Amino acid sequence: MAKTKTTFFCQNCGSQYAKWIGKCTSCNEWNTIVEEVIQKEEKRTWKQTSSVKKTSKALKISEIELNAEDRIATKNNELDRVLGGGLVKGSVLLLGGEPGIGKSTLILQVALSIAKKVLYVSGEESQSQIKMRAERLANKNNDCLILTETKTQNIFRNIEEIQPEIVVIDSIQTLHTDTIDASPGSISQIRETTAELIKFAKETSTPVILIGHITKDGHIAGPKILEHMVDVVLQFEGDRNHTYRILRTQKNRFGSTSELGIYEMQSVGLREVENPSEILISQKDESLSGTAISATLEGIRPLMIEVQALVSTAVYGTPQRSATGYNIKRLNMLLAVLEKRAGFRLGAKDVFLNITGGIKVDDPAIDLAVVAAILSSNEDEAIPQEFCFAAEVGLAGEIRPINRVDQRILEAEKLGFKKIFVSKFNKFSKKKSAIDVVLVSKIEDVFSNLFT
Ligand code: TYD
Ligand code: MG
Repeated sequence: MAKTKTTFFCQNCGSQYAKWIGKCTSCNEWNTIVEEVIQKEEKRTWKQTSSVKKTSKALKISEIELNAEDRIATKNNELDRVLGGGLVKGSVLLLGGEPGIGKSTLILQVALSIAKKVLYVSGEESQSQIKMRAERLANKNNDCLILTETKTQNIFRNIEEIQPEIVVIDSIQTLHTDTIDASPGSISQIRETTAELIKFAKETSTPVILIGHITKDGHIAGPKILEHMVDVVLQFEGDRNHTYRILRTQKNRFGSTSELGIYEMQSVGLREVENPSEILISQKDESLSGTAISATLEGIRPLMIEVQALVSTAVYGTPQRSATGYNIKRLNMLLAVLEKRAGFRLGAKDVFLNITGGIKVDDPAIDLAVVAAILSSNEDEAIPQEFCFAAEVGLAGEIRPINRVDQRILEAEKLGFKKIFVSKFNKFSKKKSAIDVVLVSKIEDVFSNLFT
């Protein structure tokens, strides 16, 4: 038996070393070198026939032709929006996300609804398990082929036979290639198998969708260069206890990265949510104290989100503060601002904050709604349901302007809101609209507008 060869790889940039060192000399990261078993053989796997091996020639940019054919619409509007109009031929897409979030479901659903010959390669589930999943989903495409295989050589043999128009790999961490001896999921295997698939995609103009696992800190497992190698990186996120899922773009060579798709997990698969604002605002007959609605933006998509606050007298010595879907440090800061700058005595009160729908919001424009919800709960006076808020709150208690205010006002108007509170310093086009734009510059202004 041949002696096992091992070598050392940097988990960040994929550089190879003969011995372990503490700091990668090429990317300067510390502690990223790991040892892996390898055994190089000469042959590569994806060998195309001579017809595609034409020599490349430089062209003027004006001479390069673009045809609309280059994108394949997936029939899944949210995914198409995120991709910028569909899958680009010959591109490689990487979809990452927590286990159980619905990556396999989403891609299987796409594979079943698209009118193309799709080869779905699974290294995680058996053919009958996939069939069981497909039975639950509404879409049916008899052209979708399922293969359970983890060796790239066998996958390519199947591909040559089937000639699929789209290839799906679920997941890249389960694949292994014969050319190296490392175990599946190791850095060298992931790098090698991805390189083979990318070569295949570029040479045959077949789009390849890779599903990838993520590590506990939320990065796609494997070397960082994996993300550099592929054309599109999407992240599927959401709270597993809630039904909403957000599809975000981390990288897109063919479109914007600020688009996002929203889905709802149902018993029959993922439903595309076209108007997220409607489902994020809870339906009720009368206004309740402690709730306020914010006109936020997720990427470039406007979202009306409900903020709920509960302020009550602290039972124990130290008042409790908790926030779901909102940064707790920022909540503490806003409470300090209310205390110091606006004179509200919240120091001895418990404050609980919740963003409905299990959504996590980073947009600073939600600050004013948070403040309004806290004040409303503290005063025990409801804010009318037709009011909404969009402004950042600064440390001096000032109401600060935010970006894309026109878009937020428009969304609020579209959904039937009567009043929107924005910063006095925000510049927006003052055209006639059904919504009343209230300009505020200090927390006191908001308070006097709402509760007197
Ligand atoms: P899955 O796609 O297997 O997740 P991943 O591939 O990201 O690990 O999603 C599995 C979860 O989705 C599982 O907890 C069950 C749920 N689910 C539904 O609620 N409805 C459905 O129709 C399907 C297929 C799955
Ligand atoms: Mg899966």
